[in-house]
Amino acid sequence: MSNIIADVVVDVQHGDCGKGKITHHLARTGDYTHVVRYNGGHNAGHTIYHEGKKFVTHVIPCGVFFGIESIIGPGCVVNPERLLSEMKELRDAGIDIDNLLSIAKNAHVITDWHLAEDNKDKVIGTTKRGNGPAYRDKYGRKGVRAEQVPELQEYLIDVYQEFHRNNEPTIKILFEGAQGFGLDVDWGDYPYVTSSHCTVGGAVLNGIPAQSVRKVYGAAKIYETYVGAKDFGMEEGIIAKAIRDIGEEYGATTGRPRKVDWFDLDAVSKAVDINGLTTLVINKVDVLEQVRHFMLYHGDNKFEFDSMEDMQYYITEHLKRDNFEIIFSGHKDRI
Ligand code: IMP
Ligand code: MG
Repeated sequence: MSNIIADVVVDVQHGDCGKGKITHHLARTGDYTHVVRYNGGHNAGHTIYHEGKKFVTHVIPCGVFFGIESIIGPGCVVNPERLLSEMKELRDAGIDIDNLLSIAKNAHVITDWHLAEDNKDKVIGTTKRGNGPAYRDKYGRKGVRAEQVPELQEYLIDVYQEFHRNNEPTIKILFEGAQGFGLDVDWGDYPYVTSSHCTVGGAVLNGIPAQSVRKVYGAAKIYETYVGAKDFGMEEGIIAKAIRDIGEEYGATTGRPRKVDWFDLDAVSKAVDINGLTTLVINKVDVLEQVRHFMLYHGDNKFEFDSMEDMQYYITEHLKRDNFEIIFSGHKDRI
C-alpha cells in the first residue's frame, strides 16, 4: 500500500483565473509523482507559458511538460479524436508525452452524438464540446467509457492500482481542476454551469482518500470574467473593453470575448470556505493597475479604492482565516 499525498488546484471564480500557471509552477518546483486532470473535458483551455513558448492545453495535464506521469482522471470526459490531436500538437512542439500520459479506464467518452447535441445549445452558452450530454449519459448509465474505445487502449490506466498498489512508498499527486466554482454543477449559478464537479470534492472522486489532501490552491483574478449565455458583468464601455483587451480576456478554447465584472468578495469567500483553501492566488493585479480603476463588490455594496495596494489590503483583511495565505500576482509573472 502506498501513502498518498494530494495537492489540489481549483478555480474560485468562473474559470480562466490562471490554474494553468499555478499547476505549471507547482509541477516545476514540487516533487510530484503524478499530475491528474480530475474534471471536465475539452471545454477547458489552460494557457501555459513553458520555456518561453505559449501552449493551450485542453485535457492533457501539465505534468507532461516536466516528465511527470500525467493522468486524465475518471472524473473527466474525453473526445478521443480531439485528445489524439492535442497529443500530436504537443509532440510536434517537442514535448515528450509518450510513456507519460494515460487515461483512466473508467473516464467517460464524448461521442459524435454528444457533440452534435451540444452544438444545438442556445440556452447555456456552452463551449459546444459535448460535455453536458456526455455527463448526462454517464449519470444516466448509458455512457461509453474509455476502456471501450479501441484507439485509447494503449493509454488506459487503472487509478486504483496506480495510486494504491504502486511499488512507490509515497505517491504525491497534483490535481489540476478545470472550470471554476461559479460554474460548478452544485455550487455555481445553476443552470448556467458546466456539468462536472469543480471543487476539491471533485478531485477526491478520482480515487484518493479524503485525508490525503494536503494543500488546496485556489486561482482567482482581481476582477471577474464569465463566458456563457447569462447576463453578467459591468456595462460594456471603455473600462470593460480596457480590462478585456489588457487582460487578454478571450476564450482560450472558443475565442469568445469574456464578460467582465468587478471582484466579488462574498463569492470568493464562499469558494475559499467550501474548498478549504490553504492558498489563494489572485492573478492579473497589473491589469487593473493599468486600467486604474480599483473596485469590488462586498455585501450589497460596491467599493472603490484609490490604489491597488488599498484594494489588496481590503481583500486580505476580509478573507483572513487560519492556515491560509493570499498571493497577489501579475498577468505573466511567475508566482
Ligand atoms: P460547457 O462546460 O461547455 O457545458 O459550458 C457550460 C458553461 O461553462 C458555459 O458558460 C461555458 O462558457 C463555461 N465554461 C466551460 N468551460 C470553461 C472554461 O474552461 N473556462 C471558462 N468557462 C467555461
Ligand atoms: Mg480556461
